[in-house]
Amino acid sequence: MPTYLTEPLPGIEARPGGAHYAVLDQGAHVLAWQPAGHRPVLWVSAASEFRPGVAVRGGIPLVFPWFGAGTDGEHAPSHGYGRITDWQREEVVEQQGSLRVRYRLAAREGFPAAMLTVEFGPEQLEVSLAIVNDTAAEVTVEAALHTYFAVGDIRRARIDGFDQASYVDTVPGADPGPHLQAGPITFGAETDRRYHHEGTAVLHDPAWGRTITVAKTGSATTVVWNPWIAKSAAMADFGDDEWQRMVCIEAANVRDTAVHLAPGATHTLSQTIGVAESAPQTV
Ligand code: BG6
Repeated sequence: MPTYLTEPLPGIEARPGGAHYAVLDQGAHVLAWQPAGHRPVLWVSAASEFRPGVAVRGGIPLVFPWFGAGTDGEHAPSHGYGRITDWQREEVVEQQGSLRVRYRLAAREGFPAAMLTVEFGPEQLEVSLAIVNDTAAEVTVEAALHTYFAVGDIRRARIDGFDQASYVDTVPGADPGPHLQAGPITFGAETDRRYHHEGTAVLHDPAWGRTITVAKTGSATTVVWNPWIAKSAAMADFGDDEWQRMVCIEAANVRDTAVHLAPGATHTLSQTIGVAESAPQTV
C-alpha cells in the first residue's frame, strides 16, 4: 500500500521491494525514484525548502506554462505557476512493484489545463505531461520536465546523444550562439544550454559506475544545466558544494519550440528514465 504524505507537503510515497517512489501534490512534483539496490536516481538538495508555494529544489519540477520569465520576459513566478500549485490527484494504483499516479491542473488565466501521469517501476520511471487546450482560444505554452539527476562527480560525467545538435548558451555573459555541439557534453564551468534536440540523452557517471538513459517524446528542446560554484553559492536553497552531485537534463518545449495549441488540441511531452550499474551499489 502507498503511504499518504501529509504536512507540510501532501503526496504519495511507496517502497515496494526496497524501491523508493515519491510524488508531491504541489506541482505534481516527482521527488524520488530509486529502484531497489540502486542509489537515488533523482537529486534533491539538502537545502531545499518544503513549504507550500515554494518550489522544491530537486526531483522533477514541472515547468508550466512558461519557462523562466516566458517568451516575452515578463512572466512571474519564474518557470510558471505549475510547480508551486497544488494539482488534483485523480488516480493512485500500486501493483506488482509499480506505482501509477495521475494528476490534473485546471485551466487558468488564459492558459490550458494539464495532466501529469507518472509511472514508477522497478526498471524505469515514465513521466508524461499532457497539455489539454480546453479553452476557447489558441494558446502558446512553454513546458519542461526539469529533471535533476544525481551523479557521483559532475566533473567526470558526460552526456552522449547531442553531437552536432545546435544550442543557445544562456549562461550570463556568454556568447549565446547558436553553437554546434561537438561530441559528448562535459562539464568544467557553469553550464546552461538550450539544445535543439529530440533524441535520447545518455548520462555516463563513472564516479558511481552507472549510466542513466533519458528518452523522450513530444519535446524538441533539451535544457542542460549545472550552476557550478558561484551560482550554487548564490542560491539559498542549494548547498554550496552540491553542484558536484547533480545535473539537470530537461525535456522541454520552450522559446522557439513552444507549443501552439488550437482549441480542443492536446500535446503530450514525456520522459522515460532508466538506470544501469556497471557494478552492484551499496546504498
Ligand atoms: C534551468 C534554467 O532550467 O533552471 C536556469 O536554464 C535556471 O537558467 C534553472 O537557473 C533553475 O531555475 P530555478 O527557477 O528553479 O532557480
